[in-house]
Amino acid sequence: MTHPSKIPELGESIFSVMSKLARKHEAINLGQGFPDYDCNEKLRSLVATALNKGKNQYCPMAGALELRETIKQKVARTYKVDIDIETEICVTAGATQALFTAITAFVHKGDEVIIIEPAYDSYKPTIFSVGGIPVVYEIKSPDYKIDWHAFSQLVSEKTKMIIINTPHNPTGSILASADIIALEKLVARTNIVVISDEVYEHLIYDGHQHESVLKYPQLYNQSIAVYSFGKTLHATGWKMGYAIGPPHLMKEFKNIHQWNVYCVSSFVQYGIANYLSDPNVYEDLGSFFEAKRDNLQIALSGTGLKPLSCSGTYFQLFDYSAITEVDDMSFSKYMVEKVGVAVIPISPFCGKRYNSKVVRMCFAKSDNTIAAAAERISKKLGQNLPTN
Ligand SMILES: Cc1ncc(COP(=O)(O)O)c(C=O)c1O
Repeated sequence: MTHPSKIPELGESIFSVMSKLARKHEAINLGQGFPDYDCNEKLRSLVATALNKGKNQYCPMAGALELRETIKQKVARTYKVDIDIETEICVTAGATQALFTAITAFVHKGDEVIIIEPAYDSYKPTIFSVGGIPVVYEIKSPDYKIDWHAFSQLVSEKTKMIIINTPHNPTGSILASADIIALEKLVARTNIVVISDEVYEHLIYDGHQHESVLKYPQLYNQSIAVYSFGKTLHATGWKMGYAIGPPHLMKEFKNIHQWNVYCVSSFVQYGIANYLSDPNVYEDLGSFFEAKRDNLQIALSGTGLKPLSCSGTYFQLFDYSAITEVDDMSFSKYMVEKVGVAVIPISPFCGKRYNSKVVRMCFAKSDNTIAAAAERISKKLGQNLPTN
């Protein structure tokens, strides 16, 4: 008996490949996108208190009431919109499960889903697993902007969904208000559902504002926005997130959610609800990570790695074309094996044709980690260069 894979072309993720190489070569890992420092002590203690106070049984399917109330307050404060805790919020096992649920809820066999590449790596396999067809719009270095006229050419009567991501992993680019308005116009009077991946909503720099779909009532009526407590609370391993959308979309979203997980870890939800009642927790994130971004850029100045513009996320792209012409896979292998610093190539976030001399580094790292990586790069980059 054979069991053909629903996602045959997509093997091991680039993150596990590079992390294995990092362990093998004892490299400093700036590849994987998570902090190398612990989350806040108060948060850990509030979660532990909830655990010890017996918050250990199923909570409501859409999430603990306290957490949905906190999310409502956070959204009201951040985006000046009022959402209903009964019909517009669902707490999920990370943003990944929210994305999976949204795609499963609305994409049927043969439906097309427009994604923007480079793209977060879960979109494509999820689309394939429900029989959907990804249609790719490519954004290019150095500014990774969307030409909405060219984008609109991809929309057809088969288009069921468009997935956007702002701030954008891996490029660090953000969508401006004009982009969101262009998207709103494009999908007006269609049956298209927009998934807005906003997991880095608070990681935004240089005075920019995050343009959430929640702020655009007409677009919101066709959208599901997806968030991650992993990113906002420096606790990626808890896999906690949530989705927000209008009642008519969230009804079907929750229909899938309840038969998938029903509800997610209750004691963590109560702990987070308590912790997030202090808005400084998320409002200080932008300046916290902006300092880390600047620190990385300064530490690597003079190494020949050229930083591209980074307006959001905790990822910084570097153009290495002044150092070598090899492709980004070869350069990343060189970095981990010979320089001793793991980075992530951009091409695995894209279709095979993508060719750019750019790699991604994660700056959600302690100052010591960044300093140690910079020291290795300053000393070794340029020696023993590979040839394609
Ligand atoms: C753009 C984007 N979306 C979604 C996720 C997944 O978030 P979570 O860990 O909450 O599932 C990530 C994680 O790296 C991401 O970068």
